[in-house]
Amino acid sequence: MIASLVRRDFFSPRVLVTLLLAIALPAAVAAVPSFRPGELWPDDRGVHLNAHGGGVLWHDGTYYWYGEHKVAGGAGNRAEVGVHVYTSRDLYHWADAGIALAVSDDPAHDLARGCILERPKVLHNARTGKFVMWFHLELKGQGYRAARSGVAVADAPTGPFRFLGSFRPNAGVWPENLPADARRPLSAEEADKLQKLKLVGGPVPSFPGDLVCRRDFAGGQMARDMTLFVDDDGKAYHLYASEENGTLQISQLTDDYLRPAGRYVRVLPGEFNEAPAVLKRGGKYFLFTSGCTGWRPNAARLAVATSIWGPWRSLGNPCVGTPEQCANTFESQSTFVLPVQGRKDTFIFMADRWRPKDAIDGRYIWLPIAFENDVPVLRWHDEWCIGDEK
Ligand code: GAL
Repeated sequence: MIASLVRRDFFSPRVLVTLLLAIALPAAVAAVPSFRPGELWPDDRGVHLNAHGGGVLWHDGTYYWYGEHKVAGGAGNRAEVGVHVYTSRDLYHWADAGIALAVSDDPAHDLARGCILERPKVLHNARTGKFVMWFHLELKGQGYRAARSGVAVADAPTGPFRFLGSFRPNAGVWPENLPADARRPLSAEEADKLQKLKLVGGPVPSFPGDLVCRRDFAGGQMARDMTLFVDDDGKAYHLYASEENGTLQISQLTDDYLRPAGRYVRVLPGEFNEAPAVLKRGGKYFLFTSGCTGWRPNAARLAVATSIWGPWRSLGNPCVGTPEQCANTFESQSTFVLPVQGRKDTFIFMADRWRPKDAIDGRYIWLPIAFENDVPVLRWHDEWCIGDEK
């Protein structure tokens, strides 16, 4: 009886459809892409993405994710390899496109293997057709004292990028918002006061006003954590933690994006912000930052302005969640705001969950940015997709 049923129904359309669905459905369900913040995120070869402190460029229908390539263990906190680049069309699936900028085997090179190369960001320059990378560079063996910006350029988005040089930006240029009567070298007394403060990159109760900025006038401003931002008119800006991390600076780039244009402002002086990431919506600029606690996460901060030049007004912590989630930004630190192409006002908050003891195992916290009363808000999601971000 069963044998005859099987024989009779085997090729019927109903059975065939059922069979096909049984095979195809689980595959279809498994293939629905999503973001799972904090989980391992395999590339097209099944290897956890290696692009920490990163940023994303959209060019010609493809997203390019650039970030710090880390190696295992504590050694991964130094640059042993360079800047890794991945490509994607949908932001969920990333293909390994190799090392975009490699460190050098020459110990005398600025990018000598073992230097510190952090937070690379890449722009496409429409005038020159070149791809321009900026990053935070610390010379090998000097801890975080050099506080330089590195610049590299390429003809293709995946590189290879050619290193152009490193420097402290804006040497010999006063910030536009430094009052005229403060535009002078430090007196011996001021230099002595600064010396005694022993600034180490973390908050100090009384930040010494404009002393660090004035100290660095001739040699250039310190530049550590950084991002790049291109405005609607094509003008690009370099935002970086400066003045021993006490003050952010926003500096316009030249039209070819290769140098500072000689125009910059000090932002939120003495408030010790780093990890800057910017978005623009409805004519307003929003700036995400963190406090300065090294690899340990702290509470995110948000500021707003109607001009990139400021004035910037603090809006407090953009996180909504448990006190712990808000106190440590979901255990992460901002690195970039990614505008999703083809969707109005859709942005992804990109952050890093650092693992300094095994740097290669650092995780990516990508969260949707919601807007409440026109102000960006961040909430935790175990799993989410573009389009269902509430
Ligand atoms: C963090 C910074 C990272 C890295 C780290 C080193 O504050 O955001 O990019 O520089 O310090 O301790």
